[in-house]
Amino acid sequence: MAKFVGILTSGGDCPGLNAAIRGVGKAALGFYGMQVIGFRDGFRGFMENRTMELDGDMLSGILTQGGTILGTSRDKPHRMPVGGKVVDVTDVIVDNYHKHHLDVLVCLGGGGTQKNAYRLAQKGLNIITLPKTIDNDVTLTDVTFGFDTALGVATEAIDRLHSTAHSHHRIIVVEIMGNKVGWLALGAGIAGGADAILIPEIPYEMERVADAIRSRSHRGKRFSLVAVAEGAISRQKVHALRAAENKVAKAKSRADQASAEAELKQLEAQHAGNTMRLARELEELTGLESRVTILGYLQRGGTPSAADRLLATRLGTGCADLIKKGRYGVMVAARADETRPVPLEEVSRRLKFVPPDHPWVGTARRVGTCLGD
Ligand code: F6P
Repeated sequence: MAKFVGILTSGGDCPGLNAAIRGVGKAALGFYGMQVIGFRDGFRGFMENRTMELDGDMLSGILTQGGTILGTSRDKPHRMPVGGKVVDVTDVIVDNYHKHHLDVLVCLGGGGTQKNAYRLAQKGLNIITLPKTIDNDVTLTDVTFGFDTALGVATEAIDRLHSTAHSHHRIIVVEIMGNKVGWLALGAGIAGGADAILIPEIPYEMERVADAIRSRSHRGKRFSLVAVAEGAISRQKVHALRAAENKVAKAKSRADQASAEAELKQLEAQHAGNTMRLARELEELTGLESRVTILGYLQRGGTPSAADRLLATRLGTGCADLIKKGRYGVMVAARADETRPVPLEEVSRRLKFVPPDHPWVGTARRVGTCLGD
């Protein structure tokens, strides 16, 4: 009997999702003669049985489209807001899987989705995942689809910002996505020739960044480009956060605990305006005027690059091959020119951070880029 395949996209969208849906769908339908059904808006749509027929017509013409034809959401099965409350709907998801007579559910997502998908695999569902995200922070795969497109967008932005920074003798601080990891800021910063690159994995000292900018000024270069990841953090702030976390852990009374938690929350909330603060402080320390550009969702929208279309199609068809073999509980990873199944359990355990000794870090240092440390 033909296998019955469900697909959903979950978490933040990225370019290449439609190419991946098409890759899984075309190979499953046309090559292996399976049946395919889409679920809208991630795990929420799955819980609510919101389906979309994925036949040859629906899969045609979507390769180059940004976003996801299925829609997405950040909802998690074990913590789903329903009717003003947050509830665990895992059992509903498991029931729906069986009601739809699925042989496998394919989940396209980033780090959070990998964890949620693994929880469902532990409940006995046949699950396969694909690694998507512009952040490139999914472990055990060389790269995630979406990253290359976002890298191109962020690099072009840095290129364009260079000329205006140069004309006005300004510091331009460009904020690049990456809350926990700095792959995108580091990659685009190197490709765009940023003068300083600040990423979450390498806490910075403001004075070091200011020094680098001042030394450029002394050499007659009265402008600088600073590429900063959303989650970049100063050393001082890391210490303050650690101290607050310690206070929470060591609190002896409820009152102490509440006040320590409030302090921690306040510190975390302050971090939201980090890029603006960084620009202001650099202006004060260097005497150069500064401006901020936040690239935001521009990095996630629009047509996928050729490399992302290729990667998403390879991973999608690799996924159909695994379904054919009945190989479940895995993520389809990219390894050099191959696609390979890797255990979902391992993928769900950790994110892929930029190691401080990663070759890209060394490359940035050797071309004289300040990393703030
Ligand atoms: O897709 C990952 C990511 O782009 C992060 O870099 C960013 O912090 C986050 O998504 C923000 O997305 P949203 O506002 O959709 O939650």
